[in-house]
Amino acid sequence: MTVIPYFELHIRPMFRILDRDHMAFKLDLWDYDQVTASARKIAGLLRLSPPGLMPPKEAGGPWPEGWIQTFEFWIEKGCPRLLLTEGQYSARRIGSGQVILSVSVQLADGAADSWSERVPSPRTEAEYLIYLRPPQPGAEEPPRLVQLKEVLPAQTEKVFISDSSGRHEIPISS
Ligand code: HEM
Repeated sequence: MTVIPYFELHIRPMFRILDRDHMAFKLDLWDYDQVTASARKIAGLLRLSPPGLMPPKEAGGPWPEGWIQTFEFWIEKGCPRLLLTEGQYSARRIGSGQVILSVSVQLADGAADSWSERVPSPRTEAEYLIYLRPPQPGAEEPPRLVQLKEVLPAQTEKVFISDSSGRHEIPISS
């Protein structure tokens, strides 16, 4: 099965903090719209010889061939990205002090996938996105309920979820 590359899963992680910092004068390499708008230019620079090569040789370039092909395949597939969806959420502190975060997402098309993605947050907070990977064209399955659980460390005081309707703080019950 051909794995389709998605910006959030396979493209953005290839750009280091250093790449993002050094390119901030022209474009934000972690921004989907900006990378998509410059995708063909980027693909060309990834294959250049120095001095035009990106990332430059003095800063870790070039990328391995497989990374470049992934970037080119992503363009060929129309620059796919993940979507956000919505679900039901609850958070509960258990005896050990850990927090159990429960997420359930009703998928209208069972061929889609949904999961909670952790994003950086201060040590006492936990922050998640609720991602939706749409079904591949032609794939269709009956609706299904996705149920996810995350065990968060005892130091967690606040839990936030960003979904298709915005950012929500999930109260922690005991
Ligand atoms: C994968 C990582 C990188 C990508 C995809 C990338 C992409 C690009 C693109 C698309 C341009 C052309 C911008 C324009 O003229 O519209 C550019 C120019 C440039 N980049 Fe990067 N870059 C990367 C990493 C870096 C790093 C790590 C550095 C510095 C250490 C760097 C320094 C520069 C400089 C100085 C230019 C201007 C070159 C010129 O106009 O002569 N880039 N890059």
